[in-house]
Amino acid sequence: MSNRTATFTGIEFENPFLLSSAPPTESEANILRAFEAGWGGVVTKTIGLHPVVNVAGAKAKFMRTSIDDGRVSMKKRDNAAVHSSWNWELISDKALDWWLPRLRRIKAAYPNRVLIASIMAGSGNDKELKAWQTLAIACQENGADGLELNFSCPHMDRKDMGSNIGRDQGLCSVVTEAVKEVAKIPVWCKLTPSTADIVVEAAACFRGGADAIVSSNTFPSIPVIDPDTLEFEINLDGFVSSGGLGGPAILPISLAKMAAMTQAFPDKAFSGIGGISDFNQAASYFLLGCGTVQVCTAAMLDHAVGPNVIKRLLTGLDAFMEKHNFKSIEDFRGIRRDRVVLQSKIRRPAGDDYQGGYEPVEGYAAPQLDEAKSK
Ligand SMILES: Cc1cc2nc3c(=O)[nH]c(=O)nc-3n(C[C@H](O)[C@H](O)[C@H](O)COP(=O)(O)O)c2cc1C
Repeated sequence: MSNRTATFTGIEFENPFLLSSAPPTESEANILRAFEAGWGGVVTKTIGLHPVVNVAGAKAKFMRTSIDDGRVSMKKRDNAAVHSSWNWELISDKALDWWLPRLRRIKAAYPNRVLIASIMAGSGNDKELKAWQTLAIACQENGADGLELNFSCPHMDRKDMGSNIGRDQGLCSVVTEAVKEVAKIPVWCKLTPSTADIVVEAAACFRGGADAIVSSNTFPSIPVIDPDTLEFEINLDGFVSSGGLGGPAILPISLAKMAAMTQAFPDKAFSGIGGISDFNQAASYFLLGCGTVQVCTAAMLDHAVGPNVIKRLLTGLDAFMEKHNFKSIEDFRGIRRDRVVLQSKIRRPAGDDYQGGYEPVEGYAAPQLDEAKSK
């Protein structure tokens, strides 16, 4: 067995693999099963001050695609591979008071595993900022090793909640700062991937004092329409609202978000999520600079908490380290961070040059080209 340990935002991990905030971590029973299965940590399903009411019927479904027709559909078919998960599930339908004794019991049962509490409130006024502080203090006093601020839930109506915070750099800073005022444990911010330049919101969180950035939450999306029935494949009374896409389909887009952030902040801590089902995908996140990774969709499809997924992640990590002769995760973390460059920096056929879309410039104007390209 290789050295699987990691230190992330000052927290010691037996292994760097966490279940992300989602159905796999929605209950005490699930989290205890997850730790028994070997996960290094969990992020609880997002906790709010008040219970929420979810839609009637299915809150999440899986889309599959087949080689025969390339169709992406929620319909189960033979020989179809998982393409993605789609959900319109809100945060935990259990409020803070329900969670607190459970956090205590989980931490007492597994003191060496990492328990992160995901929390969420509004941000429109001082009362809402106080709500973040109330959640933070209660979770840290009841056994949480760290806090993950949900700036990324894609289905909130309120303009001052979930991904609407993650789209507003001012709110990202203000909420992070409010939580940091009371937090004695590390604070991670989980950002929405649905902004023009996630580096802007990451910078805002760091200005507010964030210890780490977590990405990606699900991507805003709607289900496909069934051409036979003319209805969305998931709907209620014919209606659908924007939900979130996770799973294999989001891996490359999530990696692009992560690469932009780890390049902009090479010395900061990042936790990668999106499309991980075994170490092959996790490796990309570590090589780009992440110190931990998290999993949701693959775990939901594997006995609800991913006992086989964590086994594959651990054996995959061991095999990877042995193959490349790495002695610790730090040996390979970030070693491909600087390989994402401007298009014009990619080699052209011999003798040809490309100016990145700019006119070739000669004479005295030439030095300005590099300057223009870097803008
Ligand atoms: C049904 C469902 C519910 C989720 N609920 C939450 C949540 O409460 N809080 C949160 O931060 N992320 C939530 N997520 C997002 C996941 O934690 C994760 O970021 C996302 O699914 C991408 O990871 P994956 O590709 O491994 O699924 C949820 C995802 C799903 C599928």
